[in-house]
Amino acid sequence: MDDLLSLKQSFLAEIDTVSEIAELQQLKAKYTGRKGLVTAQMKALSSVPPQQKPAFGKAVNELRDFVDQTLDQKEILFRDVEKQKRLLSERIDITLPGKPCLPGKTHPLNKVLDEIKDIFVSMGFSIQEGPEIELDYYNFEALNIPKHHPARDMQDTFYVSDDVVLRTHTSPVQVRVMEKKKPPLKIIAPGKVYRCDADVSHTPMFHQVEGLMVDTDVSFSDLKGVLGLFIHSFFGDETPVRFRPSYFPFTEPSAEVDIGCIFCAGKGCRVCKTTGWLEVMGCGMVNPKVFEMSGYNPDEFTGFAFGMGVERLTMLKYAIDDIRLFYENDLRFLRQF
Ligand code: DAH
Repeated sequence: MDDLLSLKQSFLAEIDTVSEIAELQQLKAKYTGRKGLVTAQMKALSSVPPQQKPAFGKAVNELRDFVDQTLDQKEILFRDVEKQKRLLSERIDITLPGKPCLPGKTHPLNKVLDEIKDIFVSMGFSIQEGPEIELDYYNFEALNIPKHHPARDMQDTFYVSDDVVLRTHTSPVQVRVMEKKKPPLKIIAPGKVYRCDADVSHTPMFHQVEGLMVDTDVSFSDLKGVLGLFIHSFFGDETPVRFRPSYFPFTEPSAEVDIGCIFCAGKGCRVCKTTGWLEVMGCGMVNPKVFEMSGYNPDEFTGFAFGMGVERLTMLKYAIDDIRLFYENDLRFLRQF
């Protein structure tokens, strides 16, 4: 019985010095494990004289229970302390200022595209689309662009196969729409176009907006009225506009629309090549040959068409001197719009 008492005291002394769970496990092995000191006492029970057996057996059982319970309680305590420590170290200071999250913005080209669409929709035009991978027929043939025309050169056009191209302009949408719809017609066709070209004012992919109006008596003065109104809505009421004779295979007569140079107010500078004018789009009266190929009777209908480059209009509106800025996705540039 004295052995049991000193065993209990040495256990109590040892457990006082324990500071972590691993040491508790060592203590458990030392006292109540298979080869533990308390376990040895239980095995010694058989050699105890019969009259002392009940008292000794009871005492040794109590000691074992005491050791196990004490170890368990300590373990619960240690686990609790560990948890508190972890919570403290993982604490988030909710009073710190947050990281600013900048909202997304519309890309300048999409902004201008939306503006162009809004102006034409307000004049009663509807929006149409056509494929970017286009048949040679719609991109060239049906627009009266003959086989030897320089636009058909491999240098300018991305050919997918002999008779399929990446459309070089949005004009083929004119023909596709006329094949499906009867006049009167007032449409614009915005979209991506492709040309094998790259420098400060050209990228292999860029955007155009095509326009087409057809009815029984559409005249050149309608063309001037609609495009004049567009220019003044887009660039401002005071912007000078002129129509300069030009040539396109799909219009006759054809014109180039110029605005007074916005950089020098018409005085002449590097950007306008000292002319005082900047070219902003091509236009003209729809060539009767195009009507015929689209299934319209040229004796019954007249119409005008126009085509403008969205990058060019955006560059002029915001005085941007390098087209590649639109596609580099530099946030310092994009945030300014
Ligand atoms: N398709 C021409 C181009 O890409 C632009 C153009 C000029 C379109 C005159 C037209 C037009 O509809 O009438 O350069």
